[in-house]
Amino acid sequence: SDRDLQTRRETAETMLRDAGREALAACLSRDFTVEAKGHQDFVTAIDRRTEDRLRAALARAFPQDAVLGEEGGGAPGPVTWILDPIDGTANFLRGFPYWCLSAGLVADGDPVMGVIYDPCRDELFSAHRGGGATLNGARMRVAETGGIDRATFGLGFSFRTPAQQHAAVIGEILQMGGTYRMPGAGALTLAHLAAGRLDGFWEASIHPWDVAAGLAILAEAGGIATPYGRQSGWRAPAPLLALTPAMAQALAGGLPRDAVWSVPLQQ
Ligand code: IPD
Repeated sequence: SDRDLQTRRETAETMLRDAGREALAACLSRDFTVEAKGHQDFVTAIDRRTEDRLRAALARAFPQDAVLGEEGGGAPGPVTWILDPIDGTANFLRGFPYWCLSAGLVADGDPVMGVIYDPCRDELFSAHRGGGATLNGARMRVAETGGIDRATFGLGFSFRTPAQQHAAVIGEILQMGGTYRMPGAGALTLAHLAAGRLDGFWEASIHPWDVAAGLAILAEAGGIATPYGRQSGWRAPAPLLALTPAMAQALAGGLPRDAVWSVPLQQ
């Protein structure tokens, strides 16, 4: 119900702000251990500590909900929290100020609530289905940029994707007269798309914890996206294209041939 979602949203807002402030202090202290999980894929002691903290708060408040997290794993249930304690870990560990904490709620396969907190700018993005999307409490909405020649797309990349496929999409964007940013935290990039600061987002293969919260926020801010949940089952990485309605219209005439771009969009 709306009350259940509202309660979870408020709990997530408090828990992410508190954990985020602590993570920022750790980031600034530069005093933490780092391990490589894969090629250009890292985990720090702060990722683990933050996820433990979020899991403990959720177990106290909502013991019946399932929890899936980047570091601790887990399996989806009928109602599942999907956590990324630090999205943009590579940025966090270098002190590059573009990383966030992300908590999304998926019910019966749909992202229905999301909170994303950027401690570096003290910005809290939040939404629940039917309840509107807010940035630090003020209503937010996607941009209305009409022409691709004025558009900026957020992109993400992981080494799961062949470099040529990624490069081809960058080439298509530039040829259409658009430009792009690749700031290195998928969840925060989706939040910025929802806030009207970008016109689209694309990544060929992205994990559920990078998108669960962002897709809930984006939908409430008026954005549209490919059916990520159906493709990933919230269990495995899948492609994601997310756009403002204005950009979806602008791209409709000249969508690139790439299969990833031509997946149908939904509200
Ligand atoms: C990564 C970031 C990056 C995206 C990668 C993710 P992490 O998450 O979101 O922007 O392109 O696919 O794995 O490892 O920093 O939590």
